[in-house]
Amino acid sequence: MIKRRAMVAGNWKMNGNQTLVNSFNQQFKFSSENVDVVVCPPLTMLNAMDNNRFSVGAQNFSQLDEGAHTGDVSGAMLKEAGCDFVIVGHSERRADHNESDEVVGSKALKAIQTGLTPIVCFGEPLEVREQGDLFTFLRNQIERVIAALGSDNLNKIVLAYEPIWAIGTGKTASPAQAQEVHEFARNVIREVAPETADTLQILYGGSVKGDNAAELFANADVDGGLIGGASLKLEDFTRICEAAAN
Ligand code: PGA
Repeated sequence: MIKRRAMVAGNWKMNGNQTLVNSFNQQFKFSSENVDVVVCPPLTMLNAMDNNRFSVGAQNFSQLDEGAHTGDVSGAMLKEAGCDFVIVGHSERRADHNESDEVVGSKALKAIQTGLTPIVCFGEPLEVREQGDLFTFLRNQIERVIAALGSDNLNKIVLAYEPIWAIGTGKTASPAQAQEVHEFARNVIREVAPETADTLQILYGGSVKGDNAAELFANADVDGGLIGGASLKLEDFTRICEAAAN
């Protein structure tokens, strides 16, 4: 079996405050040679995170470089604030801000050009899974990202499978459902970038908790997790990181 590095990325979403920042900076003790840990707080807290203890990521940014774009933040600004990662294409941004696959692709490309690693999310709503055209839907999402990035850049991204019906609902994909999609996604990548497919980290996201992380991460193609709610609690997040190390 191919052994890939694992990754656990915490997405705080619009949660947290300086107290939580301090507790992560002072009390997060997990460290493993085999696991990349990324913490993604809201923008206002990025600068305050201790990026010697974990990597720091943003939850969003603009694909534009600079200028008259009120409220936006560029990749260069994220780098300056200590980020090495940025989440792109999260379903909440697709829903709240109408981000299309094309916008997601251009953000992923801009992240790479800026020296940030994009964690590119994809995943289906419940009705797509129930109607049975799941793999067509997922293939389209992944192929639009590939079209924007080009196959040469696929070794500079992390993918995150996030079934929308599992996000924040307490309903986790079963380990078998996660594995099935992760293997499929890896094979779609393999078609255009065979040399990258086996090293690409593919994270699972959607109600991952301390007590279900191990069974999800035990799957051959699940390389860790993108964690929402449970990333706000130091103990839970640490347990998930430990699960990824085993
Ligand atoms: P959740 O969120 O862990 O709270 O379900 C996952 C995500 O949105 O990445």
